[in-house]
Amino acid sequence: MPPSRPSILIARAVFPEAVKHLAQHFEVETNPDDTVWTKAELIARLQGKAGAFTTGSERIDAEVLAACPQLKIVANMAVGYNNFDVPAMTAAGVLATNAPDVLTETTADFGFALLMATARRVTESEHFLRAGRWTKWGYDLFAGAEVHGSTLGILGMGRIGQGIARRGAFGFGMKVIYHNRSRLAPEQEAACQARYVDKDELLRSADHLVLVLPYSAQSHHAIGAAELAVMKPTATLINIARGGIVDDAALAVALRQRRIAAAGLDVFEGEPRVHPDLLTVPNVVLTPHIASATLATRQAMANLAADNLIAFLTEGRALTPLNPQVIAP
Ligand code: 8YV
Repeated sequence: MPPSRPSILIARAVFPEAVKHLAQHFEVETNPDDTVWTKAELIARLQGKAGAFTTGSERIDAEVLAACPQLKIVANMAVGYNNFDVPAMTAAGVLATNAPDVLTETTADFGFALLMATARRVTESEHFLRAGRWTKWGYDLFAGAEVHGSTLGILGMGRIGQGIARRGAFGFGMKVIYHNRSRLAPEQEAACQARYVDKDELLRSADHLVLVLPYSAQSHHAIGAAELAVMKPTATLINIARGGIVDDAALAVALRQRRIAAAGLDVFEGEPRVHPDLLTVPNVVLTPHIASATLATRQAMANLAADNLIAFLTEGRALTPLNPQVIAP
């Protein structure tokens, strides 16, 4: 009898090539309908599984871990891992992995796309045109905010933040300021021409403020009514990080009252639900969490998650562990 292969769960629909690759090593259960399972359904599917391939929609917490004692690794197809309770995973001896690096440049590209679309009112003017309301050229028709030469503010200065800074500094001649929990090393600041400032100066000085910080209890509503109130009335706000970092209800009020000029949002509190007030204000560009969505990058993210499962369950090592102490206590 050949030794039995470990069983894994792929919790959402993913590239068939990644499933085939995993099936060479494991007994694989998939989710062909791509249902977003409830916690009870996820627990039921995880029974007897040594590994799980997840996306941001599956929450792995103490309750799930206690109900799935055979689980050894959960590999997230995302760089963000606020769907993981990492301390609880470590306590349960379950390895957590994420998918960093492979999406950095693609996500920074999208941050800039959203900034440009927001500042230059691309979707608002397209809606106007499609509605048949364009009857003549106008000297201030959809006049937006300048991008080149303006001040780019970045809150959260990890790999994606630095990618956005490089685009702003070298592509658009922007002055780049940032705030982060820890200041970058001088050579990192020089590489993206970015100047460290405190959060208050960032809010007051930025013409375009891009949020690229991880979500945590500390960053919950990092941008709320008080922060929006000190931003320039001409400023734009871009969130490609996580829902919950911005107080969406307060943002909708600020946009309606033109306390800031516009916002571009790829992530939302409680997504895929979107705050109804955001759907009715004109000066916001809304996209469905697609910042990393090019086929090449999503394939690379899926492959990295798959390779983490294979490396750990077949050789006891991992490529991008979040709690490496589980491997080498
Ligand atoms: C993912 C993301 O597409 O990597 C992240 O943190 O937000 C996106 O790139 C999403 O989380 C689904 O896993």
